[in-house]
Amino acid sequence: MNTITIDKDKCAQCGLCVNDCVSMCMGMNKDGYPYMKDEQMCLKCQHCMMICPTGALSFNDKSPDNSEKVSAKDLLSLIKSRRSIRQYKDEELTEEELQTIKDMLPFIPTGCNSHKMHFSFVEKKAVMVELKNKVNNRFRKLLNSKILSPLAKKFELYKDAFDRDEDIVFRNAPHMIVVSSPISAPCAPQDPVIALSYIELYARSLGLGTCWCGYAEICIKLFPELCEILEIPKGYTPVYAMLLGKPAVKYMRAPQPEPYAITEIKDILPKDSCIWCKTKRLITNFLRG
Ligand SMILES: Cc1cc2nc3c(=O)[nH]c(=O)nc-3n(C[C@H](O)[C@H](O)[C@H](O)COP(=O)(O)O)c2cc1C
Repeated sequence: MNTITIDKDKCAQCGLCVNDCVSMCMGMNKDGYPYMKDEQMCLKCQHCMMICPTGALSFNDKSPDNSEKVSAKDLLSLIKSRRSIRQYKDEELTEEELQTIKDMLPFIPTGCNSHKMHFSFVEKKAVMVELKNKVNNRFRKLLNSKILSPLAKKFELYKDAFDRDEDIVFRNAPHMIVVSSPISAPCAPQDPVIALSYIELYARSLGLGTCWCGYAEICIKLFPELCEILEIPKGYTPVYAMLLGKPAVKYMRAPQPEPYAITEIKDILPKDSCIWCKTKRLITNFLRG
């Protein structure tokens, strides 16, 4: 099922591939070459192929000769210059532009390398307009009713905007990507958020704009018929949404954000051993868990 092939002329017998294997499914044979010990345990992450300094290891049908060389250009500037784009050009991305993003998706990591996410790409502005119409109609009715769910309550302040048919949720974006996880995936809530983080930065590097869309996520929960439009497969839960398009605005400089709280742990602090402190610790840890 999962095999590695070693080019013995190239293999330096360094063992880096074996040491880097997260599932410890590889070993060195008696001649000092790596071999697959337990193919059932293999996550198919391809680390063994990627780490090999001499390109001696092929994984299944994948030869290292067909892998791109890696380089880290100026990622920090990209991170600093990313912005939530809420003003888009009234222009759809081309098939090629959308395909460029889709081609990056298989490189996104998933817990246990499950690789089972589903991506709904809304590719036509007309569909975004239809989504906006549905959501706005539903909110106009919902916000006039007496009983409001806590989720719907979040939109109360936009009541007048919905009456004016403004696009509060989708920001007139021409595209949206909704990422779903199989309910049974080992990291079902995390994988899609990681995926969208990658998409956000990659889109930025391509000169495109994105916006995390918590409002769309709420709408998908409030109005499940959106799942049908987004063609979310059976057994999958939509986790998060991101708007996408060509920015109609340009930001000239980076923000000056507040720092996050960081604790630098360089030692293990002595614990108070009084009974009250122990009880407090137990309760705190229980509540965290
Ligand atoms: C998880 C998440 C959900 C968000 N949801 C929305 C949203 O529904 N609508 C919106 O206009 N912006 C949304 N944003 C964008 C934030 O408001 C934005 O990141 C913040 O204002 C800082 O601006 P910046 O992203 O340009 O630095 C969201 C951001 C994150 C990270």
